[in-house]
Amino acid sequence: MSNTAHLSLNGKELELPLIEGSEQEVGIDISKLRAATGAVTVDVGFKNTGSTTSNITYLDGEAGVLRHRGYSIEDLAENASFLEVAYLLINGELPNAQEYADWDHQIRHHTLVNEDMENIFKAWPTGSHPMGQLTAMISSLSSFYPESLNPNQSEEDQHRTIRRLIAKMPTIVAMLHKKAAGHPVIYPQNKLDYVSNFLNMTFKNITEDYEIDPVYVEAMNKLLILHADHEQNCSASTVRIVGSSHANLYACISAGIAALWGPLHGGANQKVIEMLEAIKNDGGDAQKYIEKAKDKNDPFRLMGFGHRVYKNYDPRATIIKKSCDEILDKLGISDPVLEIAKQLEETALADPYFAERKLFPNVDFYSGIIYRAMGFPVEMFTVLFALGRLPGWISQWKEMRDQKQPIGRPRQIYTGPAARDWVPMEAR
Ligand code: CMC
Repeated sequence: MSNTAHLSLNGKELELPLIEGSEQEVGIDISKLRAATGAVTVDVGFKNTGSTTSNITYLDGEAGVLRHRGYSIEDLAENASFLEVAYLLINGELPNAQEYADWDHQIRHHTLVNEDMENIFKAWPTGSHPMGQLTAMISSLSSFYPESLNPNQSEEDQHRTIRRLIAKMPTIVAMLHKKAAGHPVIYPQNKLDYVSNFLNMTFKNITEDYEIDPVYVEAMNKLLILHADHEQNCSASTVRIVGSSHANLYACISAGIAALWGPLHGGANQKVIEMLEAIKNDGGDAQKYIEKAKDKNDPFRLMGFGHRVYKNYDPRATIIKKSCDEILDKLGISDPVLEIAKQLEETALADPYFAERKLFPNVDFYSGIIYRAMGFPVEMFTVLFALGRLPGWISQWKEMRDQKQPIGRPRQIYTGPAARDWVPMEAR
């Protein structure tokens, strides 16, 4: 293969260098294009634009492959702990026993949040969405740790900021859950591992003992791993672009959480359950909703279906679907919504509309059924996605800063009115 692409524009000839990734993906480097020709590229929604090179996650949407730092998502979901995956994403290698023990110890000893953080809840009306609260709580960490505002923190200080985030996020997420229920907050327990601690803070009632069910621990661990990173998606790109202005890490993650909230991204997991419930309450006719999804005059979309990059099955969805059956079975729960989901999937996959557009279930299609079986309210689903995605966002932010990438600032092609004279108010 040649190592340049040839462009001919307005009589000018230009050789554009090619960048080849470690999995033989090819990108055309257009960084000198405007200087050489005066033209820019236009790619609304970045469907063809690589915003960066990256060593973190490899995704082949046609083959349904997802790997973090070279390790397959299947291997990680089967064998790793979430904290191990977080270490891998952020540091580039799996930790050895000593590195893991240190990492685990450091996270366990940063789990408490400042007591003043609870006061923030007094300002919110009852019933406000926990994703809005989460963005505010995470951003507010910058007020409690103002040293994070320094964009040139030493490596050790930067690591401390990262550890604080990873350690405090489950405490904050559990706090959101407790506050929404009007229950007292349960404090972290340093003797517990990351996932058990989170479940204890979430589901323990202050008046009663709580035994952490290993089925819950396993399910939560797997779900967190399956959400841990997904290369340059909407929220990761947001984190990178906000971070490129040297905003502090807490603000960047808060921005990523806001991006995740939308129903086309992480917010889809809440919408899936609401959709399945609506279908159930409407008599359970999957075909009717498939027809609605196909109707271009109907805004209804099949939530949890389709993906910008997966044009074959989403490998995370395969794992979650299997886990969903296993977990509900172990918990002895029979959820009629699971049957509707399976029926909907089967009907959609047999329909040419979905086949032609290569629309398959994504990670969000079955995850909500597990969360619900565990006892999470539906408003918490996207918050749980954010908890899992946190190490991915941090690793994307860190890579961008380590590579000293410039501020993100896309160009545009202006299509508004040409220059015109000012018109006084009385003449308009
Ligand atoms: N239901 C019905 N039609 C769909 C759907 C759907 N869920 N998704 C895509 N299409 C159609 C779309 O109408 C278009 O048809 P046409 O070519 O006739 O105009 C075609 O498929 C391509 O869709 P697109 O919107 O151009 O594709 P995109 O890459 O811009 O959007 C998506 C990807 C995920 C936003 C979209 O598939 C969608 O809205 N899905 C539902 C929301 C969802 O489940 N989001 C979670 C994504 S996975 C979690 C994560 O964010 O990481």
